[in-house]
Amino acid sequence: MQITFYRLRTYQCCFILFNVALFHVLLFGADLVEEYFLRALPTTYTDMKILNAREKARKLDVSPLKVNISKAYIISNSEACAHKEIFLLVLTFSNPENASRRDAIRRTWANMTGVKGYTTRILFVLGKPSSEATDLEVIREFQEHQDLIEGAFFDSPENQTLKTTTAVEWIVTFCPGARFILKTDEEMFVNLPNLVDYLLSLRTHLEEIYLGKVVHQEVPNRDPQSPSFVPLQTYPEKYYPDYCSATALVISQDVARMIYVTAHEVPPSVPPGVFVGICTKKAGVTPIHSSRFSGKKHIRYNRCCYKFIFTSAVSRESQLVQEWEEVSDGKTCTLLETYYGLVSCRVMTYLDGFKQLSVDALQNEALHFAD
Ligand SMILES: *[C@@H]1O[C@H](CO)[C@@H](O)[C@H](O)[C@H]1NC(C)=O
Ligand SMILES: *[C@@H]1O[C@H](CO)[C@@H](O)[C@H](O)[C@H]1NC(C)=O
Ligand SMILES: *[C@@H]1O[C@H](CO)[C@@H](O)[C@H](O)[C@H]1NC(C)=O
Ligand SMILES: *[C@@H]1O[C@H](CO)[C@@H](O)[C@H](O)[C@H]1NC(C)=O
Repeated sequence: MQITFYRLRTYQCCFILFNVALFHVLLFGADLVEEYFLRALPTTYTDMKILNAREKARKLDVSPLKVNISKAYIISNSEACAHKEIFLLVLTFSNPENASRRDAIRRTWANMTGVKGYTTRILFVLGKPSSEATDLEVIREFQEHQDLIEGAFFDSPENQTLKTTTAVEWIVTFCPGARFILKTDEEMFVNLPNLVDYLLSLRTHLEEIYLGKVVHQEVPNRDPQSPSFVPLQTYPEKYYPDYCSATALVISQDVARMIYVTAHEVPPSVPPGVFVGICTKKAGVTPIHSSRFSGKKHIRYNRCCYKFIFTSAVSRESQLVQEWEEVSDGKTCTLLETYYGLVSCRVMTYLDGFKQLSVDALQNEALHFAD
């Protein structure tokens, strides 16, 4: 009698354990599988073109670039990196009109000059504004904060790839001492301490870093009506190469040079993230995926979850400030709290995804009816 009872209990335990395990596999398994399949495989460089690109990047002489600075930038901020050993340079792409967003970023995640003694430097990259009034405001803002770079091109959605090439040129010309560069957008919340910790954990592997949320086998937009249309002549292949989402990506200095030397072979009309992916592929660098980057997704707020992730898209300024205040209050999270935080923000973000999907579906249906 007692033995049967005991057995039953064992079965029940097993059943519960099995369910708990299944829940975790479903919740986190996708990340692990993704990271496994998207991991960078060691490459052997037999392709002559790749070898040439790498050689050119290594021997790149930037002194002639410095001579022509006045043409490429309205604000070159050429001293921003001078006389400093910078571990992580952060270039945040911003629209010249969004001064209040830049202020919110300065007050929140960008309010630091280093992590654990490693120097970080945060700059905003802008293009030219369309109005003269904004032009003057940008110059005033620069005089106050000294943290802007303004390129000599109009800041428009179509010119974002141009912004990327300008940023890369700026890095190799004026900041060749920065070990890593994070390219991100003003929409993002970035947890710099986490990211620096991660980069420090790479230890010996400090070169050929191209890290972010990897987009796998994306199909180019072939709809001629769409603003992001990519014609076959521009990019004939069926898929883009794997690339890191442009919302946040980290490269090491050597990769910045490789992008610089291969950029002129890549059509400027592909989206900026794809552009970087094609350039790095030409130099034989493979992207490294981490699920701690959010891409365009907003990660549902949870303090301990935010202490673990690298980025999240945050649309409202007030939200950015509020979340930052809670994340930076100095309270640590226990292992259990972190675990609970991750489960909770993962589940909530999934649910948000479903909600978005059904909203999109409804809108599509509505459009159908309208037709
Ligand atoms: C500098 O400008 C001159 C004149 O526009 C141009 O011929 C030269 O190629 C430029 N140099 C570099 C390194 O861009
Ligand atoms: C940045 O943080 C420091 C220290 O916490 C604080 O004194 C300072 O006011 C902050 N700066 C801004 C712009 O919020
Ligand atoms: C991109 O910038 C260039 C240089 O300022 C400008 O001539 C061009 O019109 C811009 N393109 C768009 C679509 O705004
Ligand atoms: C920045 O400005 C553009 C155009 O003015 C606007 O569409 C966009 O939503 C703004 N972004 C942020 C993060 O404020």
